[in-house]
Amino acid sequence: MIRQFETENGLFFLMSNKCLSCLLRIRNGQAELLHFGAPVQEADADALSQSVSLGWGCSVLYREEDPSSCLDSLPLAWSGSGIGDYREAPLSLLLEGEAVVPDFVYSSCTVGKAPSEAGPLPKTKGEGETLSLRFRAASSLLTENTVLTLSFTLYDTALVRSSELFNGSGKPLAVTKFMSALSDLKGPFDVTTFNGNWIAEMHPERSPAGRARVVNESVTGFSSNRNNPGFLLSRPGATEDAGEVYGFNLIWSGNHYSSVQRSDQGLTRVLQGISPQDLCIPLAPGAVLETPQAVQCWSPDGFNGLSGRMHTFIHRHIVPPAWSERVRPILYNDWEGCMFDFDESKLLSLARKAKKLGCELFVLDDGWFGARDDDFAGLGDYTVNLKKLPNGLEGLSRKIHALGLDFGLWFEPEAVNPDSDLYRAHPDWALHTPGCRDLYGRHELLLDLTNPAVRDYIVENISAILDRADIQYVKWDMNRHSVALGRKAYEYMLGLYDVLRRIFEPRPEILLEGCASGGNRFDLGMLCFAPQIWASDDTDPIERIDIQNGLSYLYPPSTFGAHVSEAPHAQTLRSTPLSTRANVAFFGGFGLEFDLAHLLPVEEAELKETIAWYRAHRETFQFGAFRRNRAEEGAVSWQVTGPDETIVALFHRLIHADPGYEWLHAEALAPDVLYTVESRQQALRVSQFGSLLKHVTPVELDPNGAVVRTADRHYRMVDASERYVCSGALLSSGLPLAQRFACTGRSEKIRLQGDFLSNLYVIRKAAPARKNP
Ligand code: DGJ
Repeated sequence: MIRQFETENGLFFLMSNKCLSCLLRIRNGQAELLHFGAPVQEADADALSQSVSLGWGCSVLYREEDPSSCLDSLPLAWSGSGIGDYREAPLSLLLEGEAVVPDFVYSSCTVGKAPSEAGPLPKTKGEGETLSLRFRAASSLLTENTVLTLSFTLYDTALVRSSELFNGSGKPLAVTKFMSALSDLKGPFDVTTFNGNWIAEMHPERSPAGRARVVNESVTGFSSNRNNPGFLLSRPGATEDAGEVYGFNLIWSGNHYSSVQRSDQGLTRVLQGISPQDLCIPLAPGAVLETPQAVQCWSPDGFNGLSGRMHTFIHRHIVPPAWSERVRPILYNDWEGCMFDFDESKLLSLARKAKKLGCELFVLDDGWFGARDDDFAGLGDYTVNLKKLPNGLEGLSRKIHALGLDFGLWFEPEAVNPDSDLYRAHPDWALHTPGCRDLYGRHELLLDLTNPAVRDYIVENISAILDRADIQYVKWDMNRHSVALGRKAYEYMLGLYDVLRRIFEPRPEILLEGCASGGNRFDLGMLCFAPQIWASDDTDPIERIDIQNGLSYLYPPSTFGAHVSEAPHAQTLRSTPLSTRANVAFFGGFGLEFDLAHLLPVEEAELKETIAWYRAHRETFQFGAFRRNRAEEGAVSWQVTGPDETIVALFHRLIHADPGYEWLHAEALAPDVLYTVESRQQALRVSQFGSLLKHVTPVELDPNGAVVRTADRHYRMVDASERYVCSGALLSSGLPLAQRFACTGRSEKIRLQGDFLSNLYVIRKAAPARKNP
């Protein structure tokens, strides 16, 4: 609910619901952010207004007649440079090449529905209430016809902010910095950012927010795998389940900027917006510039509480409505198995196997068009390679569908190889840096999506392929950082959104998966079009635990593409059992991505069982409430809770000998209700036990001999099968699990736990005990 009221202390706006409140006051024409966080009441407004009554020392007053008008010490929701606030400013303007003071004073407001989805930027969807505050320029250079509008949209679990500037000065302006939101919060805080690189995305780093500014920025042209636009502020000492945590994100996929800095008075200024690096957006007289929306969330219940609210917000207000609650198919992707080396018969043989294992969608990745037999050539030419696919895409798609599978296809539409027909015909369609030589990334250049002809080419070609070849899924890849974007970075992103909108809005049934060398563009802007994004090219499950754990702070598991791949793994040479590879991939858009040609009978059987098990539980994984649980040192535990069941995963990295007790924790269950807890039935390869087999077989076997090799093809070492009945209270405090294997004997009550092993437990309400007649 949004309420406007006035007291002797000023004009107030209270945006409030069960989850959070934001209280603004207009005074001296400026918007003060008196409170953001816990739900407060109208009656709190006066108490929140009285703390500052004088400026001090060398401070500058905004209004000489008001000694409390030192903007530098007030908690604000917007500010300007050159008006006495020396903290970081959100807006920089050039008027005829000269800096002009962006001083704006309040003039009017409206309260209405959520902002319309029209315009070039991706926007939130669904029910929400919006407060728009308008401010007129106080500088005579800009004239009072230049108007700044700050919008605040209240959703059930988040507040979404944006800013808009109308140039009424009659002269051309240039915008060199324009933040989506400025928020002064009551410090102190720790800041957690999510950083990384290719195959190492989303590693959290937490540090205290001090008086030196912390900047979380990307200047690669994209939201980047280096610094995700999402970040958190938490009270020092806040844990996964306790303490106030704020979450921030941006609905934008290009260069971004956020900063956090504590002021001398103990306020923490948070800015969120597009990066000002190389930014210079011309704003003609009469034109309007709107910023991307900034998302802000708050929870009193630690990091898990915050993640839950962010996840709900993304499910309800970000992902395309057609997919927000739609179950994601189990897919097979040929990339890690085949790379560029395939033909129709190889693909069909993989598809037959994938179908037999229980997959529902077959995805043909890179290498199907032009001269694309490696990554040096062909990008940009979307004519099918008839040597590999003599029946064309239509023929392949028909055959895949005839097997009972949906068909999906990979594209990398934003880039071009210079060795391509497209580039030879239109070298000027690629982005070049004027006066400089081209710099390549993966032997490619970016196409100039600011050029309407380029956008038309992409939209027409891809749309035609999607319609002709009966395609249910698209993987939209992008494999380099930019260098030539420079001042075009902002417009490039608008061009990309235009292309995505034109291709996918008329085809809402197609499941779009974003990808950028893995998670190089994992952000809310892309999620507005693509309900899921390939989280990382690193598919090693032990690495993925960290990557998916990092993502889970800001994004729900249904949005991360996660596949079972080969072991030993290509990037780490680590061998992990199929059970762990699957258990990690269950927490994401699940799929398989390895060569199925040489599966052993035992692996085939295990994959079939694994996929069947997943199919029975996937709604819980994809749409259940996710949380990170307590686990012993070095282990990681995740929980998802759906309407009928809770599933808890326990992942181990390196374990120690002399295993002590291990406890399973599950939260958010009714303390006094009894639950059954059942482990997912898992098994290990016989060969994994090497010469240890002699301890469990009556006769001594040669671990490298024919008997063991044959047994390895057909038999598995079945792990303990655990079943408990206990209360929700015990599960929260810790349920002791079956003892772990330590080579002191083996029975069906001993868990085969070693390095990189994991377990899953399904928790359901126990049936009430039958009363004796
Ligand atoms: C990078 C992606 O992240 C991979 O999954 C794969 O699609 C390759 N590109 C194909 O070139």
